[in-house]
Amino acid sequence: MTVDRPLYADCSAPIELRVSDLLSRMTIEEKIGQMWQSAFIREDAEELIQNGQVGSFIWADTAYAGNEKQQSVAAARVNYLQRIAVEKSRLGIPLLFARDVIHGHRTVGPIPLGQAATWNPEVARNVARMAAREAASDGIRWTFAPMMDIARDPRWGRVAEGYGEDPYLAGEMAAATVRGFQGEDLAATDSLLACSKHYVGYGAAEGGRDYNTAEITPNTLQNIYLPPFHATVKAGVGSFMASFNEIGGEPVTANRALLTEKLKKDWGFDGFVVSDWNAVCELIEHGVAEGPKQAAELATNAGLDMEMASTSFRDTLPELLKEGLVSEETIDEAVRRLLRAKFRLGLFENPYTDETMGERVKLAPEHVTWARDAVRQSIILLKNQRGLLPLAKVGKRLGVFGPLIEAQAPLFGTWTLDGDENDVVKILDAVRSTVADPEAIRHSTLTDEALEMARWCDRVVAVVGESGNRSGEDHCTTNIDLPPGQQAVLEALVRMGKPLVVVVIAGRPLALEWVMEHADAVLYCFHGGVQTGPGLADVLFGDFNPTGRLPISLPRSVGQIPVYYNHKNTGRPLPKGGDRTRYIDSPDSPLIPFGFGLSYSLVSYDNLQIAELGEQRFKVSSTVKNNSDRETTEVVQLYIRDRFSKITRPVKELKGFARVSLQPGEQKTVEFDLGPEQLGYYGPGGKSIVEPGDFDVWIGWNSDQGMVGSLTVRA
Ligand code: BGC
Repeated sequence: MTVDRPLYADCSAPIELRVSDLLSRMTIEEKIGQMWQSAFIREDAEELIQNGQVGSFIWADTAYAGNEKQQSVAAARVNYLQRIAVEKSRLGIPLLFARDVIHGHRTVGPIPLGQAATWNPEVARNVARMAAREAASDGIRWTFAPMMDIARDPRWGRVAEGYGEDPYLAGEMAAATVRGFQGEDLAATDSLLACSKHYVGYGAAEGGRDYNTAEITPNTLQNIYLPPFHATVKAGVGSFMASFNEIGGEPVTANRALLTEKLKKDWGFDGFVVSDWNAVCELIEHGVAEGPKQAAELATNAGLDMEMASTSFRDTLPELLKEGLVSEETIDEAVRRLLRAKFRLGLFENPYTDETMGERVKLAPEHVTWARDAVRQSIILLKNQRGLLPLAKVGKRLGVFGPLIEAQAPLFGTWTLDGDENDVVKILDAVRSTVADPEAIRHSTLTDEALEMARWCDRVVAVVGESGNRSGEDHCTTNIDLPPGQQAVLEALVRMGKPLVVVVIAGRPLALEWVMEHADAVLYCFHGGVQTGPGLADVLFGDFNPTGRLPISLPRSVGQIPVYYNHKNTGRPLPKGGDRTRYIDSPDSPLIPFGFGLSYSLVSYDNLQIAELGEQRFKVSSTVKNNSDRETTEVVQLYIRDRFSKITRPVKELKGFARVSLQPGEQKTVEFDLGPEQLGYYGPGGKSIVEPGDFDVWIGWNSDQGMVGSLTVRA
């Protein structure tokens, strides 16, 4: 007897037909099962799978907020559970295994804020690609990244996990990350479904305190917080995560205007939306739902397709359906989106993981190369007096000091679930293997030895800053100074009078006013993962000419927060270069502006040209010249200002950037296009408008310095 294969099992049939066919065969319990992502460790897991009562597992449930060491994932375990779903459940719908794979899996790369500092989307794509290959070898096919929450508050621990303060840069990096995770073909067995999070406004937590209320005006929401998310929809991201926070009294988990009207309807997103951890039931704590049943009702009707961890959907949706409070169409729509993702991932054809793949891909040479390249591109040269950097590899006695020079796990940065600290090359070891004579190095991690060391050597490299655990989820600070005691040692080292290079390792912007004033050279390095040491050594000794640029302003002090470049002018702006200041105890400007970063070359800009190409279209160009005898890459930045508009616009907005590689003495012309997409903004009701009138245009080397011209947009 031949049994007809159901349409949904036919891989040659179009995905939408397969989805409809499968949906038509499912019981309501099976549908609700697809809408639940279970925390991994449950005694009844096998029974739930066999009964089709669960659609996904998150394998990160002991990783409290990404900060704790936890159980690792094993492809064999994943396969074992998948086999139950595929072979023993009634319809054989595969499970989707998820984990927070944020900036690497076994090969850990720089934290996303460090990736943003490269201003190189290719770096973000590579880090995500290597993470996808390695995580997929453990059976993971869905990650909760990228996070593109705009952050204007360094106190917020999760500033580490995003791309900084600018919506355009964040959108470019996030879109590249999506492409890296999802690969050319989502159905390839080394691709991960990406998840844009946390939609939306999570980074605006009041006081920089995680999970806190966000007060965001519609104007700021449309123009600052939403655009990076939209960029990932355009890049084809497969899932979204609703954020924990409320905006204007409405928790996002239950916000129909954002989840359905904006995301699914206006932007045409056809993937699915998952809640954050337990967030559906947290609607009760928010005070908008009396209990789990009402929470499930609000969330499903808002357009939330999957509940992570808590169980309100499975416990109460059957009853809500019977009572007509949630319709079967709403459930079908959610399940349709969830199944579509599973088909797109090729899970019906390839549900199992090749258990030998891990050995081949984890720490593959190409991945280590990408990780090292990502680190060196992420390092920002903030100061270099009298050309102290790069350091000579021969002929000088070098002192290497600091609490982090022999650190390993602290260099991972937040949300590292699968890195092995033994893979982290220590900064000291990397320095030793770069210089000609390792005997010419003395080192110390102890403050009381630092001065004796300094007396002996010709130059001192002091590596200070925070360990990875000082930032991340639920790791906010009220203080953004260097950790206690560090500045005091630097002060003592300065008194020794030896040329001093300060390397700051961090997961957030730190307040470095004293360091910037007194150190001879300063490098800023966000937590870089396994290759932090080699990447840093490449920059310190000139094997790599620094190209990093700040993706977020560095404040002078915590009291200045929020300080960001794309602020409004106000009715009483400070005169540029004037000596007035609005604070009576501090200048108004940040210590170092967004976009800032030096190199070992002197690059000059000239000949700004703005040509009108047609209706609301312009070409902006300039020349950049490398006046040094060293090859370099210049990050050329394009900013605009809409001078008059019905709704006030920021004093500057980044609208483009280009990485221009220049041989010694070489000059190139760099060109940017400006059209309605860049010149417009989102006005009332989220409608994009371009207003006729004058605009300032800058091509610059950071948000504060550049050549300025103007253009006029005609009606
Ligand atoms: C975080 C998410 C994360 C989730 C699952 C939550 O606490 O906010 O970013 O993806 O946990 O681990």
